[in-house]
Amino acid sequence: MKYGHFDDAAREYVITEPKTPYPWINYLGNHDFFTLISNTSGGYTFYKDAKFRRLTRYRYNNVPIDNGGKYFYIKDGDTIWNPGWKPVKTKLDSYSCRHGMSYTIVRGEKNSISAEALYFVPLHCRGEVQRVRLKNTGSVKKSLKLFSFIEWCLWNAEDDMTNFQRNFSTGEVEVKDSVIFHKTEYKERRNHFAFYSVNTPIKGFDTDREAFIGLYNGFENPDVVSDGKSKNTIAHGWSPVASHYLEIELNPGEEKDLIFVLGYIENEDDKKWESKGVINKEKAYQMISDFDSSEKVDRALAELRSYWDELLSKYVLSSADKKLDRMVNIWNQYQCMVTFNMSRSASYFESGIGRGMGFRDSNQDLIGFVHQVPDRAKERILDIAATQFENGSAYHQYQPLTKRGNDAIGGNFNDDPLWLILSTTAYIKETGDFSILDEMVPFDNDESKAKSHFEHLEASFYHIVNNLGPHNLPLIGRADWNDCLNLNCFSSNPNESFQTTENKKGGTAESVMIAGLFVLYGNEFVKLCEKIGKSDEAKTAQKHINDMIEAINQHGWDGNWFVRAYDFFGKKVGSDENEEGKIFIESQGFCTMAGIGAEDGRAKQALDSVKERLDCEYGIVLNNPAFTKYYIEYGEISTYPAGYKENAGIFCHNNPWIMIGETIIGRGDEAFNYYKKIAPSYLEDISDLHRTEPYVYAQMIAGKDAFKPGEAKNSWLTGTAAWNYYAITQYILGIQPDYDGLVIEPCIPKKWDGFKITRKFRGDTYHITVKNPAHVSKGVKTTELDGNALASNKIPIVEDGREHEVTIVLG
Ligand code: BGC
Ligand code: NOJ
Repeated sequence: MKYGHFDDAAREYVITEPKTPYPWINYLGNHDFFTLISNTSGGYTFYKDAKFRRLTRYRYNNVPIDNGGKYFYIKDGDTIWNPGWKPVKTKLDSYSCRHGMSYTIVRGEKNSISAEALYFVPLHCRGEVQRVRLKNTGSVKKSLKLFSFIEWCLWNAEDDMTNFQRNFSTGEVEVKDSVIFHKTEYKERRNHFAFYSVNTPIKGFDTDREAFIGLYNGFENPDVVSDGKSKNTIAHGWSPVASHYLEIELNPGEEKDLIFVLGYIENEDDKKWESKGVINKEKAYQMISDFDSSEKVDRALAELRSYWDELLSKYVLSSADKKLDRMVNIWNQYQCMVTFNMSRSASYFESGIGRGMGFRDSNQDLIGFVHQVPDRAKERILDIAATQFENGSAYHQYQPLTKRGNDAIGGNFNDDPLWLILSTTAYIKETGDFSILDEMVPFDNDESKAKSHFEHLEASFYHIVNNLGPHNLPLIGRADWNDCLNLNCFSSNPNESFQTTENKKGGTAESVMIAGLFVLYGNEFVKLCEKIGKSDEAKTAQKHINDMIEAINQHGWDGNWFVRAYDFFGKKVGSDENEEGKIFIESQGFCTMAGIGAEDGRAKQALDSVKERLDCEYGIVLNNPAFTKYYIEYGEISTYPAGYKENAGIFCHNNPWIMIGETIIGRGDEAFNYYKKIAPSYLEDISDLHRTEPYVYAQMIAGKDAFKPGEAKNSWLTGTAAWNYYAITQYILGIQPDYDGLVIEPCIPKKWDGFKITRKFRGDTYHITVKNPAHVSKGVKTTELDGNALASNKIPIVEDGREHEVTIVLG
């Protein structure tokens, strides 16, 4: 069953049934002020850091699900309802939720009143604007009461939900006219406060939750709304909230707009107060006046729309497949921007208090958004590089607010450093900006240890070379990309984390996946060295790569597929010798992407084995057979029930590695079949099973060994977004930015007649037409640029700022 539909022209997903199989959410905000909002107006807001600067409260794992958000209660006679159905859940005459590019419009209609709530964060604004548009669609005059409602979080989201002995006494607010200010801890160490305003005089307000809701009630029946009038309470401790009370008269056909702003303000230390105990509200009033009319809101929304027009104009596909076009042109790119902003911090599956930005995650995310925001990509790369250690290893995570490596999580995930080569080379290929290599970047966030960014890449490369194990394969450290393959950990204590606990001394477990990764990104390092004239360095690096290929050939091939790893005892992992976990996806992906075995048939053999053993109806599972008991020598992977997460779940992040591997050996039909299996727009019809949003990828879909194969979890914040975008745009559709041109190398299903792409690259716009008259998958027969035949399928950089026509004929 479907719960809505795509509106491609508006770039929206329109939900028409509020009881979606799981809350279907959207993200508002593009820079530093963010909101998560569900299709029933649930969710929360934070500034920069979902842990340390949370503005509004949210309760994860709550009953019922997704309670708490930005609610408007309408009291029309005795009927109380919300435009987004929740929390009162009064049956609506009509309902829709339009999730668009950084805005959401929730609309409900009841008894001839239509209420539409638009939510967005204007560009360059540290606030969320909400416009409630009320209309009388009937023939009699209506008198309504409207109550807004949000609940403040006492800033530190973790402390807020644990430290009640203190927090129940600290809450403070101020109310002035129609604005409610939240100023808990402002008088001491904080220089920030939040506010919630409305652009019209109010009849009343409340700021004390207990008074507004009633101690034994829920969000669905607040006392104040039932009584039909505010209590004008000022919170002293307990739980501060903000609610405005408005009375509205609407003649038949009449429409009224009300504009609310939820803002965040920082004041300089010497400008904190207007008078003793009274906060300086100047900046808040400025923000309020920026959006105090519907015209101003329309303008801000139009700016946001053109910002997205521009972002999404860099790569535009026109194919015969609508589901594909909407993934490539809209939703996959959108998800990439969200992962750029959030990393893995805040979603409906990530609580915003657990994780900072991941070193490997953020580097990989970059390949999904570098074409959209190259400047911000550069800044991100340099921030990440500054958390690297001098020996090339890295903090596994860092906090966005401080940009410093996170000591508590530590390092020694030995794949981490290599992803910096991927992100940096992707950045240079997109922009041509080699100057990033000369930037001076600290190691360990210590300015006195700054070296050029190129030296960081060198350190990354040599960290692998300097940490080889008994088979000359890379030592795995705590884990490689698969955080749950903890081969040196031997954890028997349920109170410790697999990722951070002390590893057993002398661990020499090795990873064939890192070996493949090293060959692939090592080759990129070599190409880069050659490009910048460091040919000796390139030669030396090439030798190390050749040695690695040799080690893979000797110890990394199992007969029909690539081995996954060697464990602490030197035994193979992911081999036919094993009883469970005989084959793993990661080493098949990275070794084939690196071209290992491409010439002697092993790559094809490995990919055939993937098809035979790992593929299923809903995607490619991570390993097979699934582990059915705990293997202390493997760690967390064997803790998951069979078919879930890293234990034989369809981990959507690594499916594109196989898609790309398939394109390397020219099998476009296989590559695209894998693509379609997990791309959300193709799964819309099975939303009941899939459960998460049909417009974004989830990290994991339960695999064939699971209790419920096909059921997805952990949508939005996953490397899946970037990798699938990379696979479809660069390897299947085949438009690859390179240092000195745009390489066009599609690998598509044979039956396709072709497709068109507009690609903006280095200031020019290329209109690319790919024709497939001979119905092949791969192989460029002719290339034309502006009517002139080219000798190769690399389009040189014209750089005249104009439009260019490119025609490619496959055959
Ligand atoms: C999850 C991994 C995740 C890791 C990081 C594990 O429990 O299965 O997907 O990367 O935690 O903390
Ligand atoms: C999710 C983590 O964010 C990522 O870093 C890791 O590679 C995958 N899980 C696989 O374990």
